[in-house]
Amino acid sequence: MKVKAIYPGTFDPITNGHIDIAKRAAVLFEHVIVAISANPSNKIPRFSLEQRVELANLVLADLNNITVCSFNGLLANFAKQCDVQVIIRGLRAVSDFEYEFQMAGMNRTLIPDIETIFLTPATKYTFISSSLVREIAALGGNVDEFVHPQVSAALRTINKRNLSYCS
Ligand code: COA
Repeated sequence: MKVKAIYPGTFDPITNGHIDIAKRAAVLFEHVIVAISANPSNKIPRFSLEQRVELANLVLADLNNITVCSFNGLLANFAKQCDVQVIIRGLRAVSDFEYEFQMAGMNRTLIPDIETIFLTPATKYTFISSSLVREIAALGGNVDEFVHPQVSAALRTINKRNLSYCS
């Protein structure tokens, strides 16, 4: 059976941890759609939707069974529209579990024929989050270990723009 999966998130910005999950999913499934939410719950993204899509496309370019796209509104509706059988989510630590369990339950109620499958990243990525990466970069720290060089450059640009605005 050829199974298609969707890997949704905010990806603000995409980190090495996200890339690790996307690569694992690409091995398991025929096709993986990395779906970037335009309106994530309780979040105001630092990067525009277009920038988040562009960065994800750049860093995942060598994986030919992955496509990147954005979506508006409910993930359940978009997953159905894409005709996928699986939703992928990453689990980094026990602290992720409660939120993920709730979201999986909700999505199962909305779209009973789509399964949520959890993948764990390599141990070295379990402490990375996009907000920590953004904070470190904004305060002048080096994030090269946590993100692709193109993402690191984008963070430098966005932070430089902010500093020049303040001075
Ligand atoms: N490596 C590194 N970081 C990871 C990670 C990994 N493997 N997996 C998750 N994270 C981090 C992210 O960086 C992010 O960190 P931050 O909050 O500090 O920035 C956090 O974990 C979770 O982000 P992400 O995986 O991008 O998911 P999300 O929780 O932002 O995305 C949506 C949630 C978009 C999937 C969800 O809100 C959604 O489906 N929205 C559409 C509307 C909808 O359908 N709502 C009803 C849902 S039931």
